[in-house]
Amino acid sequence: MDSSKRSHWSSRWAFILVTVGSAVGLGNIWKFPFMTGTNGGSAFVLVYLACVVGIGVPLLMAEAMLGRRGQGDPVDAMRSLAREAGASRLWLAIGYIGIVGALLILSFYSVVAGWILEYTVRAVGGFQGMDKAMLGEVFAGLLADPLRLVAWHTVFMALSAGVVLGGVTAGIERANKIMMPGLFAILLGLLGYGAVAADLSAAFRFLFHFEPKAIDAQVVLAAMGHAFFTLSLGMGAIMTYGSYLGREISIARTSLVVATADTLVALLAGLAIFSFVFAQGLEPAVGPGLILQTLPLAFSTMPFGDVVGLLFFVLVVFAAWTSSISLIEPATAYLVEHFSLGRRAAVLLVSLLVWLLGVAVALSFNDWSGFKVFGLGLFDLLDTLTSKIMMPLAGLLIALFTARVMQRAHVESEIGLGGRAFGLWYGVLRYVSPVAIVLIFLNVIGVIG
Ligand code: PHE
Repeated sequence: MDSSKRSHWSSRWAFILVTVGSAVGLGNIWKFPFMTGTNGGSAFVLVYLACVVGIGVPLLMAEAMLGRRGQGDPVDAMRSLAREAGASRLWLAIGYIGIVGALLILSFYSVVAGWILEYTVRAVGGFQGMDKAMLGEVFAGLLADPLRLVAWHTVFMALSAGVVLGGVTAGIERANKIMMPGLFAILLGLLGYGAVAADLSAAFRFLFHFEPKAIDAQVVLAAMGHAFFTLSLGMGAIMTYGSYLGREISIARTSLVVATADTLVALLAGLAIFSFVFAQGLEPAVGPGLILQTLPLAFSTMPFGDVVGLLFFVLVVFAAWTSSISLIEPATAYLVEHFSLGRRAAVLLVSLLVWLLGVAVALSFNDWSGFKVFGLGLFDLLDTLTSKIMMPLAGLLIALFTARVMQRAHVESEIGLGGRAFGLWYGVLRYVSPVAIVLIFLNVIGVIG
């Protein structure tokens, strides 16, 4: 495929920034802390770290590599790679699963991001004087209000679509260049505040005090699924961003930087959040409401809580926004490159589809809460379908395609890893990742429990 016509990031750092922007999202700041809270703290953290190193990083490199070598949207990239390898067209499934999965994720991601927007606006007025019961009512009231949920979902989709409309460099790259430094600055500020005014050492103990007893099969599986989600794996986002990467850049080294940054943000955000929670003597294991109910309670009583609270929610908005644009781009690139649609029409079409599904997600919390498939409401259904089925499946196929279908010499020339490091990475993709992922599947379908 002719790569001269496609847009490219302006530098290696631009690629790192946008990819970190995709990876760092609600997964790090909303999902990771509450999952750590409900899965036994340090045990979950340890297994999650092992999964990032053993499965996540090798797959991140592989997915970015496929994108750059394929030079196309996820479907077209897989088409040219399969042709190059003389392999079946069935491998195009990697592209389709990614594009569809990204849209499914965005439909509920945008609804959660909408909650965050509501809380950002509330944080402007501060949480002073609110007690536990009142904060519980605020969250329950929001979930029960279809119009409010849909309105915020609409705002968030418009924000995300607006950036993607601007294109690869003028839209996506520019937005990340503004928001990501802002995100890091706020995060460090919050952490400093946590060290001085809250209970950072209790947070540290909670996250890193190793307790092997607390590790069970459930914790391992939750941690593996989360490693996929937080690194944006298998959903075409990394592949599409990789396809805009120049030939001269080392995929291996940049992927390592991205994974390290994503992990650091999760750990630092976790430290900051739990330092506030413990300083106020609050409970860590409350579930998805952790940053929406428990954290504002901490903000309501701590010194400078209003400022800290507002900065915190701005940080979460930045994180969610730079991730959602990476969920719109794969389908947009597909429509533009495959059907020669204009970018504007493609973005509108994609956003409209996601918006409609998101409306159904918003209604699943209230008017349509009776609608269940396999006992799951639409929100949980989409989360389960993507994180527990589509992402691991795409990851499995990517590992197999890279290390068993593509010519080894092509992989070696593209990835930028030499000698022993290449052998290690290749071996992990050939054996370790597929076996680990198959074990997740067997658990999901109940063969092993
Ligand atoms: N990694 C993002 C997060 O942690 C979510 C995401 C998943 C983004 C898949 C793109 C693709 O919030």
